[in-house]
Amino acid sequence: MTRLLHFTDMHLRWHQPGSAANPKRASRDMPGALDRLAANIAALAPDILIMSGDILDMPDPVIAGGSPDGRPHDAWMADAIADFQLVKDWFEATGIPYIAVPGNHDHEGAFAAVFGGPPEPRDIAGLRFFSFWDRLAADRQPHRTGARRAMFARALDAPEHDCAQIHIQHYMIDPPTFAKGWHYQYKGAAAMKRDIARSGRVRAVLSGHYHPGSLVADDAVVHSLPPAFCEAPHAFRIYDIDKNGVDVTDQALDR
Ligand SMILES: [Fe+2]
Repeated sequence: MTRLLHFTDMHLRWHQPGSAANPKRASRDMPGALDRLAANIAALAPDILIMSGDILDMPDPVIAGGSPDGRPHDAWMADAIADFQLVKDWFEATGIPYIAVPGNHDHEGAFAAVFGGPPEPRDIAGLRFFSFWDRLAADRQPHRTGARRAMFARALDAPEHDCAQIHIQHYMIDPPTFAKGWHYQYKGAAAMKRDIARSGRVRAVLSGHYHPGSLVADDAVVHSLPPAFCEAPHAFRIYDIDKNGVDVTDQALDR
């Protein structure tokens, strides 16, 4: 059996000033929440840790190359890199293998400067992990294109990847979710779901982005999106995976 611990949408700010615009997102409490999560990790003993993006809450103007206030863009970027380093140091201190991917509130270049990338498939504890650093299209619906799309096709079809897989990305494939005027699932998500199921290779598709969370476990593939870690009760999920399937358990720092 392999045990995964998955959390998402932390929206941390520590070196960066301020907090997420939405007051439910407790950006400045997240370093303390990570300390509490570490205590849970010690008790739950997962084989791997997964963080599916929006690690930080970087302001949109900073990600676009500007600044939301009078501070220079470079000062914001330096603070964001220090925040990514804080999170990386926390992962390293757990002593457990981990995979993190950037979300739409993480500047991809700053993320890569700290965590490395672009990602390659990794074999950990009997599973092959594929990370997809996908992006939002101009209409803000996620899409999988270019090198990410090619890696997706190879994962599902190439003979060298004929093994049990976990797919990790910020955006969701299933269920189709429309809220606050936006599509949260990928363009072409129904076809992506069909291709994944047909491959027979993928055990779980682990995502973030839609803060209320979701879970689809109606066939051999689990599509899981834990509620955002930045919001009370600071949820995360455990997956116990063996030949018979995936057992999902909801957890939270505040019970
Ligand atoms: Fe988010």
